[in-house]
Amino acid sequence: MGFKNLPMTTVKPVGNKEALFSSELRAEIDRWISKYPEGWQQSAVMAALDLVQADNGGHLTTELMDKVAAYLDMAPIAVYEVASFYSMYERKPVGKHKICVCTNVSCMVNGSDRIVEYLEKKLGVKLGQTSQDGQYTLKEVECLGACGGAPMFQIGHKYYENLSPELIDSILDGLE
Ligand code: FES
Repeated sequence: MGFKNLPMTTVKPVGNKEALFSSELRAEIDRWISKYPEGWQQSAVMAALDLVQADNGGHLTTELMDKVAAYLDMAPIAVYEVASFYSMYERKPVGKHKICVCTNVSCMVNGSDRIVEYLEKKLGVKLGQTSQDGQYTLKEVECLGACGGAPMFQIGHKYYENLSPELIDSILDGLE
């Protein structure tokens, strides 16, 4: 049997998985697990981390990553690797609205520098910082695959494209 036919799972499953997360959260994670073949629950790790992060107000802790590992029968280090590799996961608290500004090539040649400058001035924070009122975190990210709408940013699960200062004002005004 080749490598691709074997799940990565090597850890002994924990007994009481009900105690790891609320029933609502487990139901959502289980829905993702059900999309994969029996025994391949680790394939739901990205979705599980996303759900757990949202449930925790926008960031992950080591304890939560350990719980995800236990829930999916994974080694904790394998979960840490995923959480530290992808920019969508946070391992420190973030503001209520996380603004992920793409500064990659297409966005850069279409003015992402000016977008960043405008946001930094408007929000009073630098890239990587959270505003004092806890409302906004400004984050620089790599290409988000919306190059045709450059310059763009992402807030929550929503993309905002062809940004201009006026559009940014109206987007931020519309946030709850
Ligand atoms: S370079 Fe910004 S979305 Fe691709």
